[in-house]
Amino acid sequence: MFRYLILVALVPAIVFGVEFNKCSKGPAPLSLSVVGCDSQPCNLVRGKNTEFQFLFEVLSDVDELRTTVFATVFGLTTEYPLPSEFSNVCEHIGTDKCPLEKGEQITVSLSIPVLEFYPLISLNIEISLVEKNNTSIVHSCFNLDAKVVEPEP
Ligand SMILES: *[C@@H]1O[C@H](CO)[C@@H](O)[C@H](O)[C@H]1NC(C)=O
Ligand SMILES: *[C@@H]1O[C@H](CO)[C@@H](O)[C@H](O)[C@H]1NC(C)=O
Repeated sequence: MFRYLILVALVPAIVFGVEFNKCSKGPAPLSLSVVGCDSQPCNLVRGKNTEFQFLFEVLSDVDELRTTVFATVFGLTTEYPLPSEFSNVCEHIGTDKCPLEKGEQITVSLSIPVLEFYPLISLNIEISLVEKNNTSIVHSCFNLDAKVVEPEP
């Protein structure tokens, strides 16, 4: 019975989750799914948004969290600028509202635009949730390998 329950609990993670890498700083999310991707490298389709959904646990009481995205290409890391409506985590957590309390488990739905003119390259993208006041306080972070591809004809 117990074994059966565990199996049932694991199946959604395999179907909807993607393996990700931990960051050097900040705890990993509890789970992550990327629409259209079940293993790395994830395809980032030009002209489309890539949809991420992840569950994380709030590290400490906080008024507002921001999303930061860093892309590493050929060993060179640069910040991927997100418009503020994408980067304000409080607007991407459904009906929950900031401020957030320590220990809360929050699901974030994040949509990252992949612009038409991006070069067709392989890269690593690292996504962090940081405090607005102090970006060195990281509540959650993961990274994955990805590649920019053309849409299927
Ligand atoms: C963030 O900064 C504001 C303004 O400096 C301050 O009032 C607030 O207490 C800070 N919040 C945290 C969680 O440190
Ligand atoms: C940000 O947080 C770190 C870690 O808690 C702390 O060492 C640092 O002094 C803080 N920086 C600011 C500007 O508050």
